[in-house]
Amino acid sequence: MTFTESPCVKVKKEHGEEVRQALKAANLLRTDLRIQHDDDFVYLPLTEEHLLEGIELDADIEVCHREFEIRDRSSIEAITGFKPSYDVVGDIAVLSSEVPDTETVASAILKLHRNIRVVAKRKSRVEGVFRRRKIEIIAGEQRTETIHKENGCRYKLDLARVYFNPRLATERDRVAASVARGEVVIDMFAGVGPFSILIARRVPESRVIAIDINPDAIRYLRENIRLNRVTNVTAIEGDVREVCDKFQGTADRIIMNLPGSAHEYLREAIRMLKPEGGIIHFYTVVESINRGDTLLDKAKQKFTMYLSDASRAEILSARKVKAYAPYTYIVVIDAGVRKTD
Ligand SMILES: C[S@@+](CC[C@H](N)C(=O)[O-])C[C@H]1O[C@@H](n2cnc3c(N)ncnc32)[C@H](O)[C@@H]1O
Repeated sequence: MTFTESPCVKVKKEHGEEVRQALKAANLLRTDLRIQHDDDFVYLPLTEEHLLEGIELDADIEVCHREFEIRDRSSIEAITGFKPSYDVVGDIAVLSSEVPDTETVASAILKLHRNIRVVAKRKSRVEGVFRRRKIEIIAGEQRTETIHKENGCRYKLDLARVYFNPRLATERDRVAASVARGEVVIDMFAGVGPFSILIARRVPESRVIAIDINPDAIRYLRENIRLNRVTNVTAIEGDVREVCDKFQGTADRIIMNLPGSAHEYLREAIRMLKPEGGIIHFYTVVESINRGDTLLDKAKQKFTMYLSDASRAEILSARKVKAYAPYTYIVVIDAGVRKTD
């Protein structure tokens, strides 16, 4: 790391963002240096100390000199002055809803990442039965459809019409690695197929039943089956509650990736397991302000509480998958489940 001294504005943390924006608007913020902070204050490096008098600030500030770390000038952060949070799905960068200054961020992303053709922004949480979110295009081409590459597979999808989260790639890889030859896997909430198609590719001797209620998800799933040339996935459009009877007693393994309400579908999952039982990957949302072990215990309790009397489970593992909201996480329980009647 390289450091250099610079004049700067020292301001209380609660006014940091407002002063940062005012300095940036007046071209007084040095974007080649990394902003510093301690417990109470933020230190914003200045281009021209003497020009500060020309701008009006509501917050109390102090001008001082400090050592600052020099940023990598080629990074987006060097252009925008902060590190924007975004996901990349195919050739679309999707900014988190709280990212400020979206136009500057979008043009920095398009300039520095030639593989990105669209910059969009999340405009809502994931919502509704289809688990979709509203998104807005900020810059680049006017489209929300793309092809995303993950774990060696390709998924065509429309971010405005289906659920897709690239942050689950490692989790999908983990589940696929546990599937054995000859297994029948039911993906109860399959979306465009990132669990189903990966499993089908990795274990060609398996059979995957992929169910989803969203017709757009099924349309893309069918396209992705062709795109990835897998022949062992059957796509079923419908409410799993209505289609589960057709698959009664057939599954060795069931994936329940509907974290907000998977517990409401455990009865259907157990009905679809083979008479000798099988494995369930159960994703659930758990709130915790305590340590991680309490979080996992809560998830285990939730799973056990919602299991029907007609089953007995051995929890094989429980792990945090990702953050969902403040103090709230998605946890996956892997359980061996036996039917008792
Ligand atoms: C969280 S998404 C997961 C999609 C996919 N597993 C993935 O990793 O991208 C949940 C999916 O469940 C579907 N869904 C919700 N309720 C359903 C139901 N009752 N029956 C079948 N699918 C359902 C939604 O349409 C959505 O595509």
